[in-house]
Amino acid sequence: STKWVKTLFRRDVGTNAAAAQGEALRKEETDVQDGPQSLYAVLAERQEQAERSVLISCLSKTSEKKFLKYLSKHGEINKHFFYESYGMYAVVEFASRESVSALMEDASFPSVSHESVVPFKSRLLSLRGASSADSPHGSQLIQSQTSMPINELIRRLSREDSVDQQVISLTEAYQLTDENIRLRFLVCSLLKDITTAYFPECTIKPFGSSVNGFGKLGCDLDMFLDLDAITKGKNKLLKSGLSVEFQMKGANSERAVTQSVLSVIGECVDQFGPGCVGVQKILNARCPLVRFAHQPSGFQCDLTANNRVAMKSTELLYLYGELDPRVRSLVFTVRCWARAHGITSSIPGAWITNFSLTVMVLFFLQRRSPPIIPTLNHLRDLAGPEDTSVIEGNDCTFVSDFSRIQLQVNTETLEKLISEFFEFYASFAYSRMSIDIRKGQEQNKPQVTPLHIQNPFETSLNISKNVNAAQLDRFVALCQESTWLLQQSEATTSGGDASSDTATPWGLATLLLPSQVAGVKSNKKRRQKQTSERIKSLLESLKQNNQQKS
Ligand code: GTP
Ligand code: MG
Repeated sequence: STKWVKTLFRRDVGTNAAAAQGEALRKEETDVQDGPQSLYAVLAERQEQAERSVLISCLSKTSEKKFLKYLSKHGEINKHFFYESYGMYAVVEFASRESVSALMEDASFPSVSHESVVPFKSRLLSLRGASSADSPHGSQLIQSQTSMPINELIRRLSREDSVDQQVISLTEAYQLTDENIRLRFLVCSLLKDITTAYFPECTIKPFGSSVNGFGKLGCDLDMFLDLDAITKGKNKLLKSGLSVEFQMKGANSERAVTQSVLSVIGECVDQFGPGCVGVQKILNARCPLVRFAHQPSGFQCDLTANNRVAMKSTELLYLYGELDPRVRSLVFTVRCWARAHGITSSIPGAWITNFSLTVMVLFFLQRRSPPIIPTLNHLRDLAGPEDTSVIEGNDCTFVSDFSRIQLQVNTETLEKLISEFFEFYASFAYSRMSIDIRKGQEQNKPQVTPLHIQNPFETSLNISKNVNAAQLDRFVALCQESTWLLQQSEATTSGGDASSDTATPWGLATLLLPSQVAGVKSNKKRRQKQTSERIKSLLESLKQNNQQKS
Protein backbone atom coordinates (compact mmCIF):
# COMPACT_ATOMS: atom_id res chain seq x y z
CA SER A 1 0.00 0.00 0.00
CA THR A 2 2.95 2.30 0.56
CA LYS A 3 3.73 1.96 -3.10
CA TRP A 4 0.28 3.15 -3.99
CA VAL A 5 0.50 6.08 -1.61
CA LYS A 6 3.69 7.11 -3.31
CA THR A 7 2.10 7.04 -6.71
CA LEU A 8 -0.87 9.06 -5.60
CA PHE A 9 -0.12 12.76 -5.88
CA ARG A 10 3.18 11.78 -7.35
CA ARG A 11 5.27 14.69 -8.39
CA ASP A 12 7.15 13.09 -11.21
CA VAL A 13 4.17 12.88 -13.52
CA GLY A 14 5.08 13.72 -17.02
CA THR A 15 8.80 13.53 -16.55
CA ASN A 16 8.76 11.00 -19.35
CA ALA A 17 9.03 12.55 -22.75
CA ALA A 18 5.85 12.34 -24.76
CA ALA A 19 7.32 9.67 -26.99
CA ALA A 20 7.86 7.38 -24.04
CA GLN A 21 4.44 8.01 -22.65
CA GLY A 22 2.83 4.83 -23.89
CA GLU A 23 5.51 2.93 -22.05
CA ALA A 24 5.16 5.00 -18.90
CA LEU A 25 1.49 4.28 -18.99
CA ARG A 26 1.93 0.55 -18.99
CA LYS A 27 4.40 0.81 -16.16
CA GLU A 28 1.88 2.74 -14.16
CA GLU A 29 -0.80 0.19 -14.81
CA THR A 30 1.41 -2.43 -13.23
CA ASP A 31 1.93 -0.19 -10.22
CA VAL A 32 -1.76 0.23 -9.88
CA GLN A 33 -2.50 -3.45 -10.04
CA ASP A 34 -0.56 -4.39 -6.95
CA GLY A 35 -1.86 -1.64 -4.70
CA PRO A 36 -5.26 -0.93 -3.19
CA GLN A 37 -7.64 0.27 -5.84
CA SER A 38 -9.53 3.12 -4.33
CA LEU A 39 -8.94 6.74 -3.50
CA TYR A 40 -10.51 5.95 -0.13
CA ALA A 41 -7.65 3.72 0.99
CA VAL A 42 -5.21 6.51 0.29
CA LEU A 43 -7.37 9.10 2.01
CA ALA A 44 -7.51 6.87 5.07
CA GLU A 45 -3.74 6.63 5.23
CA ARG A 46 -3.26 10.38 4.84
CA GLN A 47 -5.93 11.00 7.47
CA GLU A 48 -4.22 8.73 9.95
CA GLN A 49 -0.91 10.51 9.30
CA ALA A 50 -2.59 13.84 10.00
CA GLU A 51 -3.90 12.65 13.36
CA ARG A 52 -0.35 12.03 14.51
CA SER A 53 0.67 15.55 13.46
CA VAL A 54 0.76 18.96 15.09
CA LEU A 55 1.02 22.47 13.68
CA ILE A 56 3.41 24.77 15.51
CA SER A 57 3.87 28.48 15.09
CA CYS A 58 7.58 29.25 15.43
CA LEU A 59 9.62 32.36 15.85
CA SER A 60 11.39 32.91 12.60
CA LYS A 61 14.74 32.48 14.32
CA THR A 62 14.04 29.08 15.82
CA SER A 63 17.02 26.78 15.68
CA GLU A 64 15.91 23.63 13.95
CA LYS A 65 18.18 21.49 16.06
CA LYS A 66 16.85 22.76 19.39
CA PHE A 67 13.32 22.55 18.07
CA LEU A 68 13.67 18.89 17.13
CA LYS A 69 15.51 18.07 20.33
CA TYR A 70 12.65 19.47 22.40
CA LEU A 71 9.94 17.74 20.37
CA SER A 72 11.62 14.35 20.26
CA LYS A 73 11.46 14.26 24.05
CA HIS A 74 7.82 13.34 23.48
CA GLY A 75 8.46 10.59 20.98
CA GLU A 76 9.89 9.69 17.62
CA ILE A 77 9.32 12.16 14.78
CA ASN A 78 8.53 10.72 11.35
CA LYS A 79 8.61 13.88 9.33
CA HIS A 80 8.71 17.62 9.78
CA PHE A 81 8.89 20.70 7.61
CA PHE A 82 8.76 24.47 7.93
CA TYR A 83 6.76 26.91 5.89
CA GLU A 84 5.94 30.58 5.89
CA SER A 85 2.43 32.04 6.08
CA TYR A 86 2.02 35.21 8.14
CA GLY A 87 4.97 33.93 10.15
CA MET A 88 6.85 30.67 10.37
CA TYR A 89 5.12 27.40 11.01
CA ALA A 90 6.20 23.79 11.31
CA VAL A 91 4.25 20.62 10.65
CA VAL A 92 5.51 17.78 12.77
CA GLU A 93 4.37 14.22 12.30
CA PHE A 94 5.08 11.88 15.21
CA ALA A 95 5.32 8.12 14.87
CA SER A 96 2.54 7.63 17.38
CA ARG A 97 -0.48 9.49 18.68
CA GLU A 98 0.71 9.09 22.27
CA SER A 99 3.52 11.51 21.47
CA VAL A 100 0.98 14.12 20.46
CA SER A 101 -0.85 13.65 23.77
CA ALA A 102 2.45 13.87 25.65
CA LEU A 103 3.35 17.10 23.89
CA MET A 104 -0.08 18.55 24.64
CA GLU A 105 0.28 17.53 28.31
CA ASP A 106 3.44 19.59 28.37
CA ALA A 107 1.82 22.63 26.74
CA SER A 108 1.07 25.69 28.86
CA PHE A 109 -1.70 28.24 28.51
CA PRO A 110 -1.08 31.42 26.58
CA SER A 111 0.53 34.19 28.52
CA VAL A 112 -1.92 37.05 28.74
CA SER A 113 -1.88 38.78 25.42
CA HIS A 114 -5.69 38.86 25.49
CA GLU A 115 -7.66 39.40 28.67
CA SER A 116 -9.28 35.98 28.40
CA VAL A 117 -9.14 32.91 26.18
CA VAL A 118 -11.63 30.22 25.12
CA PRO A 119 -10.17 27.16 26.85
CA PHE A 120 -10.33 24.90 23.78
CA LYS A 121 -7.12 22.90 23.43
CA SER A 122 -6.05 21.88 19.97
CA ARG A 123 -3.00 20.65 18.07
CA LEU A 124 -2.27 24.18 16.88
CA LEU A 125 0.54 25.27 19.19
CA SER A 126 3.07 28.07 19.55
CA LEU A 127 6.70 27.62 20.33
CA ARG A 128 7.82 29.49 23.44
CA GLY A 129 11.17 30.30 24.94
CA ALA A 130 13.31 30.39 21.84
CA SER A 131 15.63 33.30 22.37
CA SER A 132 16.70 35.62 19.64
CA ALA A 133 20.25 34.52 20.41
CA ASP A 134 19.46 31.20 18.74
CA SER A 135 21.24 30.73 15.51
CA PRO A 136 19.11 31.41 12.45
CA HIS A 137 17.65 28.42 10.65
CA GLY A 138 20.39 28.49 8.06
CA SER A 139 19.97 25.10 6.47
CA GLN A 140 16.25 24.94 7.11
CA LEU A 141 14.28 24.64 3.93
CA ILE A 142 11.26 26.93 4.02
CA GLN A 143 8.49 25.55 1.87
CA SER A 144 6.39 27.91 -0.15
CA GLN A 145 2.71 27.02 -0.06
CA THR A 146 1.65 29.34 -2.85
CA SER A 147 2.05 28.98 -6.57
CA MET A 148 4.58 30.77 -8.70
CA PRO A 149 3.43 34.18 -10.05
CA ILE A 150 2.36 34.02 -13.70
CA ASN A 151 5.28 36.14 -14.97
CA GLU A 152 7.77 33.85 -13.35
CA LEU A 153 6.00 30.88 -14.89
CA ILE A 154 6.15 32.52 -18.32
CA ARG A 155 9.90 33.00 -17.91
CA ARG A 156 10.32 29.42 -16.79
CA LEU A 157 8.35 28.07 -19.75
CA SER A 158 10.21 30.25 -22.22
CA ARG A 159 13.43 28.50 -21.28
CA GLU A 160 12.07 25.03 -22.08
CA ASP A 161 12.81 23.68 -25.51
CA SER A 162 9.62 21.95 -26.57
CA VAL A 163 5.93 22.57 -26.03
CA ASP A 164 5.69 19.13 -24.45
CA GLN A 165 8.36 20.11 -21.97
CA GLN A 166 6.53 23.38 -21.31
CA VAL A 167 3.33 21.55 -20.44
CA ILE A 168 5.23 19.22 -18.12
CA SER A 169 7.10 22.11 -16.55
CA LEU A 170 3.85 23.97 -15.89
CA THR A 171 2.35 20.90 -14.25
CA GLU A 172 5.39 20.47 -12.06
CA ALA A 173 5.42 24.11 -11.04
CA TYR A 174 1.75 24.23 -10.09
CA GLN A 175 0.81 20.86 -8.67
CA LEU A 176 0.43 20.33 -4.95
CA THR A 177 3.54 19.22 -3.12
CA ASP A 178 3.57 16.33 -0.68
CA GLU A 179 3.98 18.88 2.15
CA ASN A 180 1.03 20.92 0.97
CA ILE A 181 -1.14 17.80 0.87
CA ARG A 182 -0.05 16.92 4.40
CA LEU A 183 -1.00 20.41 5.54
CA ARG A 184 -4.43 20.03 3.91
CA PHE A 185 -5.12 16.77 5.71
CA LEU A 186 -3.85 18.28 8.95
CA VAL A 187 -6.31 21.18 8.69
CA CYS A 188 -9.14 18.64 8.13
CA SER A 189 -7.94 16.74 11.16
CA LEU A 190 -7.83 19.87 13.33
CA LEU A 191 -11.36 20.70 12.26
CA LYS A 192 -12.44 17.17 13.03
CA ASP A 193 -11.39 17.72 16.65
CA ILE A 194 -14.12 20.37 16.84
CA THR A 195 -16.83 18.37 15.07
CA THR A 196 -16.22 15.15 17.03
CA ALA A 197 -17.24 17.01 20.17
CA TYR A 198 -20.80 16.64 18.87
CA PHE A 199 -20.49 13.62 16.59
CA PRO A 200 -17.74 11.34 17.89
CA GLU A 201 -17.89 8.99 14.88
CA CYS A 202 -17.75 11.69 12.22
CA THR A 203 -14.87 12.32 9.85
CA ILE A 204 -13.82 15.33 7.83
CA LYS A 205 -12.75 14.35 4.34
CA PRO A 206 -11.07 16.62 1.83
CA PHE A 207 -12.56 16.48 -1.67
CA GLY A 208 -12.30 18.50 -4.89
CA SER A 209 -8.95 19.63 -6.19
CA SER A 210 -7.11 19.01 -2.90
CA VAL A 211 -7.31 15.29 -3.63
CA ASN A 212 -8.50 14.74 -7.21
CA GLY A 213 -5.00 15.21 -8.64
CA PHE A 214 -5.79 18.54 -10.35
CA GLY A 215 -5.09 20.86 -7.43
CA LYS A 216 -2.81 23.84 -7.87
CA LEU A 217 -0.82 25.26 -4.96
CA GLY A 218 -3.06 27.84 -3.32
CA CYS A 219 -6.36 26.24 -4.33
CA ASP A 220 -9.16 26.20 -1.79
CA LEU A 221 -9.65 23.35 0.64
CA ASP A 222 -13.02 21.65 0.12
CA MET A 223 -14.09 19.55 3.07
CA PHE A 224 -16.97 17.28 3.69
CA LEU A 225 -18.34 16.45 7.14
CA ASP A 226 -19.18 12.77 6.90
CA LEU A 227 -21.77 11.61 9.44
CA ASP A 228 -22.56 8.33 7.67
CA ALA A 229 -20.46 6.23 10.05
CA ILE A 230 -22.97 7.06 12.81
CA THR A 231 -25.87 5.23 11.18
CA LYS A 232 -23.93 2.69 9.16
CA GLY A 233 -24.51 -0.99 9.87
CA LYS A 234 -27.45 -0.31 12.18
CA ASN A 235 -31.11 -1.28 11.63
CA LYS A 236 -30.15 -4.14 9.38
CA LEU A 237 -32.38 -6.69 11.00
CA LEU A 238 -35.16 -6.24 13.47
CA LYS A 239 -34.25 -8.16 16.61
CA SER A 240 -36.95 -10.25 18.18
CA GLY A 241 -37.78 -9.54 21.80
CA LEU A 242 -36.96 -6.34 23.57
CA SER A 243 -34.51 -3.81 22.19
CA VAL A 244 -33.96 -0.10 22.31
CA GLU A 245 -33.56 2.58 19.72
CA PHE A 246 -32.29 6.12 19.86
CA GLN A 247 -34.66 8.98 20.21
CA MET A 248 -33.59 11.55 17.69
CA LYS A 249 -34.83 14.95 16.78
CA GLY A 250 -36.89 14.99 13.60
CA ALA A 251 -36.37 17.44 10.74
CA ASN A 252 -38.29 18.35 7.61
CA SER A 253 -35.70 17.16 5.13
CA GLU A 254 -32.12 16.01 4.69
CA ARG A 255 -31.33 19.53 3.62
CA ALA A 256 -32.73 20.92 6.87
CA VAL A 257 -30.55 18.48 8.84
CA THR A 258 -27.47 19.54 6.88
CA GLN A 259 -28.30 23.19 7.45
CA SER A 260 -28.76 22.80 11.19
CA VAL A 261 -25.59 20.73 11.63
CA LEU A 262 -23.52 23.17 9.58
CA SER A 263 -25.02 26.12 11.38
CA VAL A 264 -23.88 24.81 14.78
CA ILE A 265 -20.49 23.63 13.51
CA GLY A 266 -19.97 26.98 11.78
CA GLU A 267 -20.71 28.73 15.07
CA CYS A 268 -18.18 26.53 16.91
CA VAL A 269 -15.51 27.10 14.29
CA ASP A 270 -16.14 30.81 14.58
CA GLN A 271 -16.20 30.96 18.38
CA PHE A 272 -13.71 28.26 19.37
CA GLY A 273 -11.55 27.35 16.39
CA PRO A 274 -7.97 28.61 16.84
CA GLY A 275 -6.75 30.24 13.64
CA CYS A 276 -10.17 30.14 11.95
CA VAL A 277 -11.25 33.59 10.85
CA GLY A 278 -13.88 35.23 8.64
CA VAL A 279 -16.44 32.47 9.15
CA GLN A 280 -19.44 32.79 6.82
CA LYS A 281 -22.41 30.44 6.90
CA ILE A 282 -23.81 30.07 3.41
CA LEU A 283 -26.69 27.78 4.29
CA ASN A 284 -29.16 28.66 1.55
CA ALA A 285 -26.90 27.70 -1.34
CA ARG A 286 -27.78 24.63 -3.42
CA CYS A 287 -25.07 22.94 -1.45
CA PRO A 288 -25.05 24.56 2.03
CA LEU A 289 -21.57 25.36 3.32
CA VAL A 290 -19.49 27.12 5.93
CA ARG A 291 -16.65 29.18 4.48
CA PHE A 292 -13.68 30.44 6.48
CA ALA A 293 -10.00 31.17 6.29
CA HIS A 294 -7.59 29.02 8.23
CA GLN A 295 -4.90 31.56 8.94
CA PRO A 296 -1.96 29.36 9.98
CA SER A 297 -2.16 27.37 6.76
CA GLY A 298 -3.38 30.20 4.56
CA PHE A 299 -6.15 27.97 3.18
CA GLN A 300 -9.54 29.23 2.16
CA CYS A 301 -11.82 26.49 3.48
CA ASP A 302 -15.27 25.35 2.37
CA LEU A 303 -16.96 22.91 4.71
CA THR A 304 -20.01 21.04 3.42
CA ALA A 305 -21.96 18.08 4.75
CA ASN A 306 -24.01 15.32 3.16
CA ASN A 307 -22.24 15.91 -0.13
CA ARG A 308 -21.63 12.38 -1.33
CA VAL A 309 -22.10 13.14 -5.03
CA ALA A 310 -19.21 15.62 -4.91
CA MET A 311 -17.10 12.92 -3.30
CA LYS A 312 -18.00 10.63 -6.21
CA SER A 313 -17.02 13.22 -8.80
CA THR A 314 -13.75 13.69 -6.95
CA GLU A 315 -13.16 9.94 -7.17
CA LEU A 316 -13.98 9.97 -10.87
CA LEU A 317 -11.65 12.86 -11.71
CA TYR A 318 -8.94 11.19 -9.67
CA LEU A 319 -9.40 7.98 -11.64
CA TYR A 320 -9.23 9.76 -15.00
CA GLY A 321 -6.12 11.64 -13.88
CA GLU A 322 -4.41 8.38 -12.91
CA LEU A 323 -5.20 6.61 -16.18
CA ASP A 324 -2.81 8.61 -18.34
CA PRO A 325 -0.30 11.31 -17.30
CA ARG A 326 -1.43 13.48 -20.22
CA VAL A 327 -4.79 14.00 -18.53
CA ARG A 328 -3.37 15.85 -15.54
CA SER A 329 -0.92 17.83 -17.66
CA LEU A 330 -3.62 19.07 -19.99
CA VAL A 331 -5.98 19.94 -17.16
CA PHE A 332 -3.25 21.94 -15.39
CA THR A 333 -2.40 23.77 -18.59
CA VAL A 334 -5.97 24.62 -19.46
CA ARG A 335 -6.78 25.70 -15.88
CA CYS A 336 -3.69 27.90 -15.76
CA TRP A 337 -4.43 29.42 -19.16
CA ALA A 338 -8.03 30.11 -18.12
CA ARG A 339 -6.97 31.79 -14.88
CA ALA A 340 -4.38 33.93 -16.66
CA HIS A 341 -7.11 35.30 -18.94
CA GLY A 342 -9.77 35.72 -16.28
CA ILE A 343 -11.96 33.00 -17.81
CA THR A 344 -12.12 31.52 -14.33
CA SER A 345 -12.25 33.60 -11.18
CA SER A 346 -12.17 33.14 -7.44
CA ILE A 347 -15.34 35.24 -7.22
CA PRO A 348 -18.58 33.34 -7.96
CA GLY A 349 -20.39 34.59 -11.07
CA ALA A 350 -21.09 33.87 -14.73
CA TRP A 351 -17.57 32.49 -15.22
CA ILE A 352 -16.69 28.98 -16.28
CA THR A 353 -15.53 27.00 -13.25
CA ASN A 354 -12.43 24.84 -12.96
CA PHE A 355 -14.71 21.85 -12.56
CA SER A 356 -16.41 22.60 -15.91
CA LEU A 357 -13.06 23.14 -17.61
CA THR A 358 -11.82 19.82 -16.30
CA VAL A 359 -14.88 18.05 -17.69
CA MET A 360 -14.29 19.80 -21.03
CA VAL A 361 -10.73 18.46 -21.13
CA LEU A 362 -11.95 14.96 -20.30
CA PHE A 363 -14.57 15.15 -23.04
CA PHE A 364 -11.97 16.30 -25.55
CA LEU A 365 -9.73 13.35 -24.62
CA GLN A 366 -12.65 10.97 -25.10
CA ARG A 367 -13.16 12.43 -28.57
CA ARG A 368 -9.63 11.68 -29.76
CA SER A 369 -9.19 8.87 -32.18
CA PRO A 370 -8.41 6.48 -30.68
CA PRO A 371 -9.79 7.87 -27.39
CA ILE A 372 -7.24 8.53 -24.64
CA ILE A 373 -9.71 7.88 -21.82
CA PRO A 374 -12.92 5.79 -21.73
CA THR A 375 -16.44 7.14 -21.33
CA LEU A 376 -18.17 7.15 -17.95
CA ASN A 377 -20.71 4.63 -19.26
CA HIS A 378 -17.86 2.31 -20.10
CA LEU A 379 -16.45 2.71 -16.57
CA ARG A 380 -19.94 1.93 -15.24
CA ASP A 381 -20.13 -1.24 -17.34
CA LEU A 382 -16.81 -2.41 -15.90
CA ALA A 383 -18.02 -1.96 -12.31
CA GLY A 384 -18.32 -4.91 -9.97
CA PRO A 385 -21.11 -5.39 -7.41
CA GLU A 386 -18.93 -3.76 -4.73
CA ASP A 387 -18.86 -0.55 -6.78
CA THR A 388 -22.63 -0.06 -6.88
CA SER A 389 -23.50 3.40 -5.67
CA VAL A 390 -26.85 5.12 -5.89
CA ILE A 391 -27.04 8.53 -4.27
CA GLU A 392 -30.43 10.21 -4.01
CA GLY A 393 -31.66 8.17 -6.95
CA ASN A 394 -28.63 8.96 -9.13
CA ASP A 395 -26.53 6.15 -10.52
CA CYS A 396 -22.98 6.93 -9.39
CA THR A 397 -21.60 3.47 -10.12
CA PHE A 398 -18.26 3.10 -11.88
CA VAL A 399 -15.33 0.72 -11.66
CA SER A 400 -12.85 1.22 -8.83
CA ASP A 401 -10.45 -1.53 -9.87
CA PHE A 402 -8.05 0.22 -12.26
CA SER A 403 -6.73 -3.07 -13.60
CA ARG A 404 -10.06 -3.79 -15.31
CA ILE A 405 -9.67 -0.70 -17.50
CA GLN A 406 -8.12 -1.40 -20.89
CA LEU A 407 -6.82 1.70 -22.61
CA GLN A 408 -6.44 2.12 -26.33
CA VAL A 409 -3.05 2.97 -27.76
CA ASN A 410 -2.87 6.67 -28.52
CA THR A 411 0.58 8.25 -28.72
CA GLU A 412 -0.36 11.86 -29.46
CA THR A 413 2.04 14.38 -27.98
CA LEU A 414 1.06 17.02 -25.43
CA GLU A 415 1.85 19.68 -28.01
CA LYS A 416 -0.58 18.18 -30.46
CA LEU A 417 -3.24 17.70 -27.80
CA ILE A 418 -3.05 21.22 -26.39
CA SER A 419 -3.34 22.85 -29.79
CA GLU A 420 -6.15 20.50 -30.84
CA PHE A 421 -7.92 21.24 -27.56
CA PHE A 422 -8.10 24.93 -28.42
CA GLU A 423 -9.13 24.16 -31.96
CA PHE A 424 -11.84 21.78 -30.77
CA TYR A 425 -13.40 24.35 -28.47
CA ALA A 426 -12.82 27.22 -30.87
CA SER A 427 -15.29 25.58 -33.23
CA PHE A 428 -17.58 23.52 -31.00
CA ALA A 429 -21.31 23.73 -31.85
CA TYR A 430 -22.25 25.27 -28.49
CA SER A 431 -25.62 26.47 -29.73
CA ARG A 432 -26.89 22.99 -30.53
CA MET A 433 -24.75 20.53 -28.61
CA SER A 434 -24.14 19.48 -25.05
CA ILE A 435 -20.89 18.09 -23.62
CA ASP A 436 -21.46 14.67 -22.11
CA ILE A 437 -18.62 12.57 -20.64
CA ARG A 438 -21.07 9.77 -19.84
CA LYS A 439 -21.55 8.95 -23.50
CA GLY A 440 -18.34 10.58 -24.70
CA GLN A 441 -20.23 12.18 -27.54
CA GLU A 442 -21.94 15.49 -28.20
CA GLN A 443 -25.63 15.28 -27.40
CA ASN A 444 -28.45 17.52 -28.51
CA LYS A 445 -28.79 20.29 -26.00
CA PRO A 446 -31.78 19.72 -23.70
CA GLN A 447 -31.99 23.33 -22.49
CA VAL A 448 -31.39 26.73 -23.96
CA THR A 449 -28.29 27.93 -22.12
CA PRO A 450 -25.13 29.27 -23.72
CA LEU A 451 -22.98 26.38 -22.48
CA HIS A 452 -24.33 22.95 -21.60
CA ILE A 453 -22.11 20.45 -19.81
CA GLN A 454 -24.03 17.55 -18.43
CA ASN A 455 -23.47 16.83 -14.77
CA PRO A 456 -21.89 13.35 -14.85
CA PHE A 457 -23.94 11.97 -11.98
CA GLU A 458 -27.03 14.15 -11.75
CA THR A 459 -27.61 13.90 -15.46
CA SER A 460 -30.55 16.28 -15.67
CA LEU A 461 -28.34 19.10 -14.41
CA ASN A 462 -25.99 21.40 -16.28
CA ILE A 463 -22.73 22.10 -14.41
CA SER A 464 -22.19 25.30 -16.40
CA LYS A 465 -25.69 26.73 -16.03
CA ASN A 466 -24.15 29.87 -14.56
CA VAL A 467 -22.16 30.72 -17.69
CA ASN A 468 -23.61 33.58 -19.75
CA ALA A 469 -23.20 34.25 -23.47
CA ALA A 470 -20.56 36.93 -22.94
CA GLN A 471 -18.34 34.60 -20.91
CA LEU A 472 -18.72 31.81 -23.45
CA ASP A 473 -17.81 34.23 -26.25
CA ARG A 474 -14.67 35.25 -24.41
CA PHE A 475 -13.74 31.62 -23.95
CA VAL A 476 -14.25 30.84 -27.64
CA ALA A 477 -12.36 33.96 -28.76
CA LEU A 478 -9.44 33.01 -26.53
CA CYS A 479 -9.45 29.44 -27.86
CA GLN A 480 -9.24 30.87 -31.38
CA GLU A 481 -6.45 33.22 -30.46
CA SER A 482 -4.51 30.46 -28.74
CA THR A 483 -4.91 28.16 -31.73
CA TRP A 484 -3.48 30.93 -33.88
CA LEU A 485 -0.62 31.68 -31.48
CA LEU A 486 0.41 28.04 -31.34
CA GLN A 487 0.38 27.80 -35.11
CA GLN A 488 2.57 30.91 -35.33
CA SER A 489 4.92 29.51 -32.76
CA GLU A 490 5.16 26.25 -34.60
CA ALA A 491 6.02 28.07 -37.80
CA THR A 492 8.69 30.28 -36.29
CA THR A 493 10.33 28.83 -33.23
CA SER A 494 12.12 25.68 -32.43
CA GLY A 495 12.66 26.17 -28.77
CA GLY A 496 13.61 28.61 -26.06
CA ASP A 497 16.97 30.06 -25.32
CA ALA A 498 18.03 28.28 -22.19
CA SER A 499 21.15 30.38 -21.75
CA SER A 500 19.27 33.62 -21.41
CA ASP A 501 17.32 34.87 -18.42
CA THR A 502 15.12 36.93 -20.65
CA ALA A 503 14.17 34.26 -23.14
CA THR A 504 11.49 35.49 -25.53
CA PRO A 505 8.13 33.96 -24.67
CA TRP A 506 7.32 31.24 -27.15
CA GLY A 507 4.95 28.28 -27.49
CA LEU A 508 2.79 27.78 -24.42
CA ALA A 509 4.31 30.86 -22.77
CA THR A 510 2.76 33.17 -25.39
CA LEU A 511 -0.65 31.74 -24.57
CA LEU A 512 -0.30 32.97 -21.01
CA LEU A 513 0.55 36.55 -21.97
CA PRO A 514 -2.32 39.03 -21.73
CA SER A 515 -4.67 38.64 -24.66
CA GLN A 516 -5.48 41.06 -27.45
CA VAL A 517 -8.83 39.66 -28.52
CA ALA A 518 -11.86 41.96 -28.48
CA GLY A 519 -13.81 42.00 -25.27
CA VAL A 520 -11.08 40.26 -23.37
CA LYS A 521 -9.21 43.40 -22.46
CA SER A 522 -8.47 44.15 -18.87
CA ASN A 523 -10.29 47.06 -17.25
CA LYS A 524 -7.16 48.77 -16.19
CA LYS A 525 -5.64 51.13 -18.75
CA ARG A 526 -2.16 50.70 -17.38
CA ARG A 527 -2.35 46.97 -17.83
CA GLN A 528 -3.70 47.35 -21.34
CA LYS A 529 -0.67 49.36 -22.27
CA GLN A 530 1.69 46.77 -20.81
CA THR A 531 -0.28 44.15 -22.62
CA SER A 532 -0.02 45.68 -26.02
CA GLU A 533 3.65 46.37 -25.52
CA ARG A 534 4.31 42.80 -24.59
CA ILE A 535 2.35 41.44 -27.52
CA LYS A 536 4.06 43.90 -29.85
CA SER A 537 7.52 42.82 -28.75
CA LEU A 538 6.44 39.23 -28.97
CA LEU A 539 5.23 39.65 -32.53
CA GLU A 540 8.41 41.53 -33.39
CA SER A 541 10.53 38.67 -32.19
CA LEU A 542 8.43 36.20 -34.10
CA LYS A 543 8.88 38.26 -37.24
CA GLN A 544 12.63 38.43 -36.72
CA ASN A 545 12.79 34.71 -36.25
CA ASN A 546 10.84 34.28 -39.45
CA GLN A 547 13.24 36.49 -41.39
CA GLN A 548 16.26 34.69 -39.99
CA LYS A 549 14.85 31.38 -41.12
CA SER A 550 13.87 32.38 -44.61
P1 GTP B 1 -10.64 24.55 -7.56
O1 GTP B 1 -11.13 25.62 -8.44
O2 GTP B 1 -9.19 24.29 -7.70
O3 GTP B 1 -11.09 24.68 -6.17
O4 GTP B 1 -11.30 23.20 -8.19
P2 GTP B 1 -12.31 22.19 -7.51
O5 GTP B 1 -12.38 21.00 -8.41
O6 GTP B 1 -11.94 21.94 -6.09
O7 GTP B 1 -13.66 22.96 -7.61
P3 GTP B 1 -14.60 23.55 -6.46
O8 GTP B 1 -13.84 23.92 -5.24
O9 GTP B 1 -15.43 24.58 -7.11
O10 GTP B 1 -15.56 22.33 -6.16
C1 GTP B 1 -15.15 21.21 -5.42
C2 GTP B 1 -15.78 19.96 -5.99
O11 GTP B 1 -17.19 20.07 -5.95
C3 GTP B 1 -15.44 19.68 -7.45
O12 GTP B 1 -14.24 18.99 -7.63
C4 GTP B 1 -16.62 18.85 -7.87
O13 GTP B 1 -16.45 17.53 -7.44
C5 GTP B 1 -17.75 19.48 -7.09
N1 GTP B 1 -18.40 20.53 -7.90
C6 GTP B 1 -18.02 21.79 -8.09
N2 GTP B 1 -18.87 22.46 -8.89
C7 GTP B 1 -19.83 21.58 -9.20
C8 GTP B 1 -20.99 21.65 -9.97
O14 GTP B 1 -21.34 22.66 -10.57
N3 GTP B 1 -21.75 20.53 -10.04
C9 GTP B 1 -21.39 19.40 -9.38
N4 GTP B 1 -22.15 18.34 -9.48
N5 GTP B 1 -20.30 19.29 -8.65
C10 GTP B 1 -19.52 20.36 -8.55
MG1 MG C 1 -11.89 23.48 -4.68
